[in-house]
Amino acid sequence: MDSLSNSPYVLIFPFPVQGHVSCMLKLAELLCLSGVNVTFLNSDIIHHRLLRYTYVVSRFSRYSGFRFETISDGLPPDHPRSGITGNRVVDIFDSIKMVTKPMFREMLLPGGCLNCGSRPPVSSAIADGIMCFTIDVAKEMGIPVFLFRTVSASCFWAFYCIPKLIEFGDLPIKEDDEMDRFVTGVTGMEKYLRLRDLPSFCRAIDLSDRAFQVITSETQETHRANGLILNTFEDLEESALAQIRKHIPNLYAIGPLHAHLKSRLTSPLRSSNSLWEEDRTCMTWLDEQAQKSVIYVSFGSMAMLSREELIELWYGLVNSKKNFLWVVRPNSVAGDGQNIPAELLEGTMKRGYMVRWAPQEEVLAHPSIGGFLTHSGWNSTLESIVAAVPMICWPYYADQQVNSRQMEDVTISLPPLIVVFPSPIQWPVNTMFDLAELLCLSGLHVTFLLTPFTNTLLIRHFNVESRLNPYPIIRHLQR
Ligand code: UDX
Repeated sequence: MDSLSNSPYVLIFPFPVQGHVSCMLKLAELLCLSGVNVTFLNSDIIHHRLLRYTYVVSRFSRYSGFRFETISDGLPPDHPRSGITGNRVVDIFDSIKMVTKPMFREMLLPGGCLNCGSRPPVSSAIADGIMCFTIDVAKEMGIPVFLFRTVSASCFWAFYCIPKLIEFGDLPIKEDDEMDRFVTGVTGMEKYLRLRDLPSFCRAIDLSDRAFQVITSETQETHRANGLILNTFEDLEESALAQIRKHIPNLYAIGPLHAHLKSRLTSPLRSSNSLWEEDRTCMTWLDEQAQKSVIYVSFGSMAMLSREELIELWYGLVNSKKNFLWVVRPNSVAGDGQNIPAELLEGTMKRGYMVRWAPQEEVLAHPSIGGFLTHSGWNSTLESIVAAVPMICWPYYADQQVNSRQMEDVTISLPPLIVVFPSPIQWPVNTMFDLAELLCLSGLHVTFLLTPFTNTLLIRHFNVESRLNPYPIIRHLQR
């Protein structure tokens, strides 16, 4: 009690999905390592899934100032919380605001489970930045509250500018052929952010779209909190951070959290906070592969593929003649379970390995990994940067479009030269690839703008992986 009562006591409350929970748990652990008491408030469902894994339990049990508490997310147990696209996130959001908010308030009242027993009273709260109702509750209790956003600073800034995007006529997007126009309403990004790179919610034809409204209003409320915390760092996002600071001066860029945590953990305990069981057999498979020979393919914790996308991607991977490690998450494919063409299974057996969930940070750090085909979730992006693994970005939804564009922009210190392949037939791809290689040899940086099909073509016929390795070439897949 004595040592606990002398330290600050922070309450951390994430939005209950994998990418948010695991990242905020890393923050919690870092605080514990600095001697701060932490209560981590999880939804019942997430808590149950997380604590199935003994390595998580044993890791957190080492911190005497740490404890989990749980709260309902307000949805019925059989609600399909994962496999989320915009609407499902909105389901969780609405239910938390309506059902969970009053419970949260009760828990914080004197005598409530967050404010009783041997622990000192909560001295501050760090809440997920898409749960701004926490500001009202914490303020009512006289507790300072900081918001934590799991997205990049660039994405947060794009969200923040949505009212200006509307005022300047960038939104709503009127025609599909406008998509390559640069936006005018996001200060500091006018030279590289195109309409197609705005967060996917901005593609809603109708601005009364619920997901669009939720994200816009939550972001606009940020300034009511005592500060904003982002999982990023100055060198990576200096310009976006400077823009945000003009509006939210108490801005803390404290990432990349997973790297800070890794450097602080001295014991060999696994630092993962996965909600799915990690299939570690892929590490043994990676051990058997040549250095930088494997492309790691993973689309994070929420993206859903259609069966057509799955099969096309599969053909691309098999026909690339490259080794690949592919994560196909449970329930991540619509129409799952239908017959898979035999040639794909055969091709995969020759050079691929598939798992339902991988120990991603360890995978990215493995010497056999030469590239990452990613959906550009912010955690995955940071993990790839830290592991120095080149990315092929295939953004799916939400913030991922901004991240993907940003990766092209920040990685390139010279103005990028964009080589567009106008038609996906063999000879222009070949010729323009040769041209790009020549430009690289002259010290220029090149971005390829590709459709998934032309990318497959390039991989299949022109041995691009090994030819690209020495150059700052980024391939950008268009959805
Ligand atoms: C979404 C958003 O796109 C993201 O930007 C936001 O920060 C969180 O919510 P998500 O689909 O969860 O993202 O992707 P990402 O942010 O990349 O997080 C996925 C996490 O799951 C990563 O930490 C990754 O290491 C982990 N993961 C993924 C595994 O541990 N194993 C896997 O097989 C796949």
